[in-house]
Amino acid sequence: MEKELIMILDFGGQYAQLIARLVRQFNVYCEVLPYYTDFEKIKNLSPKGFIFTGGDSDANETDPPTCDPKIYELDIPILGIGYSNHLINEANPIAIIEDPKKNLFTKHDSSIEGTSEGVNCLKDFLYKTCKCSGSWNMESFVEMSIRQLKEKIGGQKVLCALSGGVDSSVAAVMISKAIGKQLTCIFVDHGLLRKNEGDEVEEIFTKQFDVNLIRVNAHERFYNKLSGVTDPERKRKIIGEEFIRVFEEEAKKIGRVDYLVQGTIYPDIIESGVGSGLVKSHHNVGGLPDYVDFKEIIEPLRDLFKDEVRQAGLELGIPENLVFRQPFPGPGLGVRIIGDITPDKVKILQEADYIYRDEIAKAGLDKDISQYFAVLTNLKSVGVKNNERTYDYTVALRAVKTSDFMTAEYVEIPWDVLGEISKRIVNEVDHVNRVCYDITGKPPATIEWE
Ligand code: XMP
Repeated sequence: MEKELIMILDFGGQYAQLIARLVRQFNVYCEVLPYYTDFEKIKNLSPKGFIFTGGDSDANETDPPTCDPKIYELDIPILGIGYSNHLINEANPIAIIEDPKKNLFTKHDSSIEGTSEGVNCLKDFLYKTCKCSGSWNMESFVEMSIRQLKEKIGGQKVLCALSGGVDSSVAAVMISKAIGKQLTCIFVDHGLLRKNEGDEVEEIFTKQFDVNLIRVNAHERFYNKLSGVTDPERKRKIIGEEFIRVFEEEAKKIGRVDYLVQGTIYPDIIESGVGSGLVKSHHNVGGLPDYVDFKEIIEPLRDLFKDEVRQAGLELGIPENLVFRQPFPGPGLGVRIIGDITPDKVKILQEADYIYRDEIAKAGLDKDISQYFAVLTNLKSVGVKNNERTYDYTVALRAVKTSDFMTAEYVEIPWDVLGEISKRIVNEVDHVNRVCYDITGKPPATIEWE
C-alpha cells in the first residue's frame, strides 16, 4: 500500500492536533510537524498535501513565523486553517485559503467539531485536491507496524516494562507479534493493584499471546518499605524508586538488550506544541530505568492518538476489558489508602473497589464514567452490626467525568445504584461500616485523594 501522508505544519495555537484527528477520521494518515522542520526532511516524507495551522497569537504579529519558502515550490497543495492565511504565499496557485473568522472548526470537549462547511472543505481538500484514496485504517496500520518492527529489530533482543495499562499492553502485544520470544516483558506486581488484576494481566499475556513474561511478585518488598509511612509524596517516591529497583534487578538477569519499549503515544509528543519541543513528563511509576543496558528506545505507538491505541489493541485481539481499562495511577492503591499502608488495608480496599466496579458495570455506567474508584479513608467511626458496636473504616467512592483529567466533574450516579453499592460494601467487606460519596469537582479537589 502506498503510504499517503498529509503533513500538518504547526505554526502555533491549539488546532494542529485536532485537525490531525479529523484528517485521520477521513482515513488519511497525517503527521504534525513544527513549521520550522528542515526542508529536506519534509521533502523526503513526500506528503500529498500540507495543512498549515496557526493560532490567535500570530494574527497581529509583525514578524510571524514562516516555513522554508522552498515548500511553495514543491507544487503540493496547501490548506491554511486558523490565522495562517498570511503564512501562505499568495502567489501559490494551489493554496486554498480559508477565512478564519468563519470558525470552520471548534473545539468541543476533547473532540473537534467541524461545521459542515469546515468538514466539507477539509474533505474536498483531502480527496479532490490532494487525491488521497482514504485507504488508511487501523488494520493496515497494525500490519504495517508489525512488518516494520520485524525489519528494524531483526534478530535482536527487546525488553518491555509491562504495567497492565492500555499503552504498554498494546505496545507489548504489537512487538510480540513482530518478534515473538525475542521480547521479554517484566511485570512488577507491587501488591497495590486492583483485585485480581495481576492474575488477569499474567493470564492474557501468557495464555492468549504466549509472551515471554516475567511476573515479579514484590508485594512484601513494597509493604516493608512503606510500613509506617503516611506522607503521600513519600509514599509515591518510595513506590516509584522501589519499582525501578525491582525492574533493574530483573533486567540485569536478562543481560544486555538492544531495545527498550516505551508506550509513548502521539499526544505525549506533540501536546506541548510548537516552540517548546518538550515531551510531556509522566509521573508514572517507573519512568525510565537509568541503569538498564540497552541501545535504543522503541516506541511503536508514537504515531497514535489514545482512541487509536485502543482500536489497535482491539485489532491485535486484546480483550475489551483491558483495552477500555480506565486510567490507573502508577502507585496504584498506594495513593488511595490514606495514611499508612498495611496488607490488611490493601485487602479491604481491593474488596470494596471490586464491588463498586461490579455494580457500576451492572448498572451499565462503566463506559460513561471517565474514572471511578474506592478510597480507604483513615477515618474510623462507630457503627452497629449484629447488635454489636463496631468501630471500623469509612470507604469513600469517587466517580468523575473529564476529557483531559486536568479538570473534572463528579458524576451523578443514581441513588439506587449508590445505595446498592453501599449495602454490599458494608455487608461483604469486613472492617468497613460506613460509605460516603465524594461530590467535589476538580478543582478544588484532585481526582485521587492523595
Ligand atoms: P489528580 O489526582 O492529579 O489525577 O487529579 C489526575 C489523573 O492522573 C492520575 N494520577 C496518576 N497517574 N501516577 C500516575 O501514573 C501518579 O502518581 C498519579 N497521580 C494521579 C489519576 O488517576 C488521574 O487519572
